[in-house]
Amino acid sequence: MAAIRAASTSLTLLASTSSSCYYHSRPSIFTKFRFGPIWAVSLTLPPLSSRRAKRMAHSIARATLGLTQPNKIDPPKISFAAKEIDVGEWKGDILAVGVTEKDMAKDENSKFKNSVLQKLDSKLGGLLSEVSSEEDFTGKAGQSTIIRLPGLGSKRVGLIGLGSAASPTVTYRNLGEAVAAAAKSTQASNVAITLASSEGIPAELKPSTASAIASGTVLGTFDDNRFKSEPKQPALKSVEILGLGTGPEIEKKLKYAQDVCSGIIFGKELVNAPANVLTPGALASEAEKIASEYSDVFSAKILDVEQCKELKMGSYLGVAAASANPPHFIHLCYKPPGGEVKTKLALVGKGLTFDSGGYNIKTGPGCSIELMKFDMGGSAAVLGAAKALGQIKPAGVEVHFIVAACENMISGTGMRPGDILTASNGKTIEVNNTDAEGRLTLADALVYACNQGVEKIVDLATLTGACVVALGPSIAGVFTPSDDLAKEVLGASEVSGEKLWRLPMEESYWDSMKSGVADMVNTGGRQGGAITAALFLKQFVDENVQWMHIDIAGPVWNDKKKNATGFGISTLVEWVLKNSS
Ligand code: BES
Ligand code: MN
Ligand code: ZN
Repeated sequence: MAAIRAASTSLTLLASTSSSCYYHSRPSIFTKFRFGPIWAVSLTLPPLSSRRAKRMAHSIARATLGLTQPNKIDPPKISFAAKEIDVGEWKGDILAVGVTEKDMAKDENSKFKNSVLQKLDSKLGGLLSEVSSEEDFTGKAGQSTIIRLPGLGSKRVGLIGLGSAASPTVTYRNLGEAVAAAAKSTQASNVAITLASSEGIPAELKPSTASAIASGTVLGTFDDNRFKSEPKQPALKSVEILGLGTGPEIEKKLKYAQDVCSGIIFGKELVNAPANVLTPGALASEAEKIASEYSDVFSAKILDVEQCKELKMGSYLGVAAASANPPHFIHLCYKPPGGEVKTKLALVGKGLTFDSGGYNIKTGPGCSIELMKFDMGGSAAVLGAAKALGQIKPAGVEVHFIVAACENMISGTGMRPGDILTASNGKTIEVNNTDAEGRLTLADALVYACNQGVEKIVDLATLTGACVVALGPSIAGVFTPSDDLAKEVLGASEVSGEKLWRLPMEESYWDSMKSGVADMVNTGGRQGGAITAALFLKQFVDENVQWMHIDIAGPVWNDKKKNATGFGISTLVEWVLKNSS
């Protein structure tokens, strides 16, 4: 059996330098450059055997290309107050009021019917109603209007439209994000947020409303500055949420939201990092760092090529074969603090740090080869969830986090179209397309997950362009033979506000996956490509394990913002918590 590689000692060395920022209370690949001198010391050059020389070339490339600035992201401090708004006394840069279209209704004298807006407007001498009608602000989602108050310094009052999004989480997170955006554009450092109709929210929903607003401000304030030569520092330092209550209940929800946000930000950093920085080895050290940061609940096991060979992971190693950056098979295990375990789960993530397509190289406009650093988005979701859960520490549940990390490259040692691979469950695969590599890596990862004795597995993968064609850029495709698991995870996604849509696992489509010589091929035709991919994965899952595959090829990336989304993390954390006791 493979040996366990303990979290590396250099981590402990670096860890002694503490950071004030809660996102990275330990340095990561992304933050270690802020500890310049220590990093410089740890770069001792090995003697020049040819293998080492090659490795050295890579580490020099990593140390000198791309990576420049660490993220210095001190998130805004969030606090709560029950007080009424008095613009005269209120001390801050922006007072933001979330309003619905109903709140914007005016009476026959053009005065607000809503009492909060009415009061605010009269204190501002009618400015609010004037500006809102001039700018045609109706309270729709996405609308916002910020007024600079004459004679009150840099103070501003903003109305932010809430609209009527289906999910309250999304509505209030968007409010927080809009306020963060307003703070960015006005360089505001202190903001207060309130709702025009907070008294209409049932008491039991106030904490989650407040925490959703808080998440929005934290995520909206975050900018990934690591690769900019002149990083901008976020101006926003404090956020006061008014009128949604105070006390332990709301503080508990806030802590949960902040833990999840730190996981989401970590996940975004992983996905945004280019493939020359985030190699399979770098991804593995990030996973090890999570384990050593939360060593009370995590253990880490990283398998190298030889160890994967012992486990007969021929399918995964076939994909990794062309790459100069060796594969790393990542396995983190979460055990609850109390020790008692009622449910065992596994989260499996596709971890292609780059997908060139291999010999079936990605060519032509629209193939997005330059974006294929995001092909480890599934693993980022899994590791982001691990980071959040390391802080939340749910009871009664054991969770395995599994990533078969590698690159899909081209070289003389790489797999050819037509090659036949044998996976670790003994099944043989004729590779009729080297670009359908994600499923080949997941095959061995799923077999490994089943061998951990888990009851339920959820895998996440940027698996098919076909899923993006089917569901567009912001909805993930869900595939599972289990109605119970579908209910659980879709329920979790309703809380998190992430969009998932279940698609059928149409068994008759398996016909297109038949091989003349092996047990199966790795790609069917163009039709139903997301479904045949899911059917392929099913070949590697024990029948008595509940399993779900989530294709996140669309929502992993925000084309407009040219940035990672952190998709999947909040749903996974919710789901694990549902399975805790
Ligand atoms: N990583 C891609 C899927 C992908 C494509 C994600 C575009 C996001 C945007 C995956 O490895 C892939 O190449 N899939 C192929 C499968 C095909 C060869 C059957 C695809 O979708 O084209
Ligand atoms: Mn591919
Ligand atoms: Zn891929």
